[in-house]
Amino acid sequence: MLSPILLRPALPVIVALVCFSRVAAAVDEPDATYKTHTTDIIPATEAPAAKLPASVARLSPEEARRELTEVRAAIARADALYHREAAPEIGDFEYDQLKQRAAELERAFPEIARSVPPVPEIGDDRSGLFQTVRHRERMLSLEKTYAEADVRAFEKRVAKQLGRDDLAYVVEPKFDGFAVSAVYEKGRLVRAVTRGNGAEGDDITANALALSNLPRTLRAMAADGTASVVPDAIEIRGEIFVPFAEFARVNAEREAAGEAPFANPRNLAAGTIRQLDPREVARRGLRVVFYAVGECVPLTALPATQHELPGRFRAWGLPAIAADQAWPARGGAELWGAIDALRRARPGFAFPTDGAVVKLDSLAQQRELGAGENAPHWAIAYKFAPDRAETQVRAITIQVGRTGVLTPVAELAPVELAGSTIARATLHNADDLARKDIRVGDFVYIEKAGEIIPAVVGIDLARRPAEAARFAFPEKCPACGAAVMRRAGEVAVRCSNEACPAQLRRRIEHFASAGCLAINGLGPATIDALVERGLVRNLPDIYRLRRAELLAVAKLGEKSADQLLASIETSKHAELWRFVNALGIPQVGAVAARDLARRCGSLEALIALGSNTAAANGKSDGVDRADPAMRAATAYFAEPANRARVAEFVALGMQPRVAAVRAADAEPGAKAAGKIFVLTGTLPSLTRAQATEKIEAAGGKVAASVSRATTFVVAGADPGAKLEQARKLNVPVLDEAALLELLGAD
Ligand code: IVH
Repeated sequence: MLSPILLRPALPVIVALVCFSRVAAAVDEPDATYKTHTTDIIPATEAPAAKLPASVARLSPEEARRELTEVRAAIARADALYHREAAPEIGDFEYDQLKQRAAELERAFPEIARSVPPVPEIGDDRSGLFQTVRHRERMLSLEKTYAEADVRAFEKRVAKQLGRDDLAYVVEPKFDGFAVSAVYEKGRLVRAVTRGNGAEGDDITANALALSNLPRTLRAMAADGTASVVPDAIEIRGEIFVPFAEFARVNAEREAAGEAPFANPRNLAAGTIRQLDPREVARRGLRVVFYAVGECVPLTALPATQHELPGRFRAWGLPAIAADQAWPARGGAELWGAIDALRRARPGFAFPTDGAVVKLDSLAQQRELGAGENAPHWAIAYKFAPDRAETQVRAITIQVGRTGVLTPVAELAPVELAGSTIARATLHNADDLARKDIRVGDFVYIEKAGEIIPAVVGIDLARRPAEAARFAFPEKCPACGAAVMRRAGEVAVRCSNEACPAQLRRRIEHFASAGCLAINGLGPATIDALVERGLVRNLPDIYRLRRAELLAVAKLGEKSADQLLASIETSKHAELWRFVNALGIPQVGAVAARDLARRCGSLEALIALGSNTAAANGKSDGVDRADPAMRAATAYFAEPANRARVAEFVALGMQPRVAAVRAADAEPGAKAAGKIFVLTGTLPSLTRAQATEKIEAAGGKVAASVSRATTFVVAGADPGAKLEQARKLNVPVLDEAALLELLGAD
């Protein structure tokens, strides 16, 4: 087997080498030291002990001691980074491999295992930043495995304990986020708590309240009019997560601002929920979904089965697993088919998952089986190994972004990965690249981080060409030759030249993009021609373009030129937030731009943020300058050059609209005010007329076709071309459950 090196700076090469050769091995024995980490693999005790791999049997005691010391140290480091700092360096898969390797070494060398320093027990996500609160009922994790045999052994054990082998199970997605327990008393949300050490966790209520879909109160009357008992007290367990679309948006904004992107949606969720500014939680699009119950008084408020639980949650107004995202199975024979069905459906999920959770369906039987120290005996998580491919780095190129950030990109020999052909992967930034030491000519392993973005996760060092040299990060901008620079505290290396043509091209692309002024017909070739020939030297120049120039210089046909000019004209009356977003104010993306536009109400008020020094010192104008977006806008408009630029736009006819944005928030409590929905396909329970009625009752509008103005497309079974159109235009897509959540959440 080839010898890949995983990209783990802190882990000695020897460990990565050995561990990586163990990709598909089954887990065999439980071990007390493992029972504290949330990604524990606690295999079925009745599974037959697997044979030790030759790579362990061959080791001398001295080698085993050295390796176990290194593996345990790597596990301890990973635990600390994961739980305490929410900034892991390695993925679950690599982590689980380390644990498996440690287990093998411990089994083969029990004497040595006792003398090597143990992994400190953490399994505790408390950060020290929040108040600690006790869970009423212990907050459990799950047993986890990558091996089918462990799932089968789990089912056999359950069947034996309950004395029958035709038991009903449910297979649910394993959401990849951050576990939370929401406590409702008399129907009111009183607290949201992290798992912590299982007994007590961090009180993150303030941050949880900023989640867009967490209701403050439980409804006693479901949307369809049926009554449901609201318990006196209930702990509802679920996961805070970031949908893929939000993950992509947040990372794009961070990269543009020169900040390190999040490695995957889980890190984004975990990193955000445990920081101290709830406004950041709102901006980063975090959501919650519920899937289990801790304490519930009275128990009769609950249904009899797990598969009915999501329906009950929804009746109370809580976001829950959609009906078509959980699979029933009876007995061991059907379990694997259900897991497979989930695996096939998974690429269509808008949220990150890393496996399937198998749960015994009857809540009474769940109670009968009970739980161990950290995990229930009635459930097991089967984790999907990430899709991985090997390919060669043909070149490392440098992209210059609109803010001048230089991003290294690996140009790869095209390779198939999880259904798409990958030819490029971001290498993030100079520091990351230097640390990983990826070289032109290297054979690398790529995975899709969070299922969407290909990332280089390993190098096959055995195949490194002799002549492969370390990559020398350029000291000059590859586009304009200006010196590069680094701002204090930033990972980004930037081109120092404001007039750099590569930056200008990107700024124009951004300005004209769908989330900004939506100027049609300003594609890359046209932009290139306009910049090269000096017709657009800055953004306001777009409004000085003449028909004759477009025909002669940009080589556009008459029709295209006219369409482009018409679109430029229309953009002068775009909504204010679009113009604010288009300006490219550092730290201000689309969400913050909407926020700013709503709060300030007019372009004049926005500009005044920078000039009104009396207000800037205090809060006399009612503006909260502690807010990061407000601060960023204030700093931006305090720059005379920026004010002059905006004045130039205004002189050229820019008159952004504000009415639509304000209307969206005018009616407090109207969940869908200002939002435009398009329905497609057959929804599981609502007819078109009912869905329309609900949307309109919540202040929204239903439109017939998808355009850039569409806020959401609601898709059911057999959706039509509207769904395609939504994807093309990046319009978020909701299913019925998500729609009801959005309309119903208090
Ligand atoms: S049930 C008592 N169901 O995975 C059982 N957990 O890595 C409580 N998770 O601790 C958990 N999706 O944070 C359950 N459908 C699902 C889940 C799920 C994700 C999380 C949960 C758990 C962790 C283990």
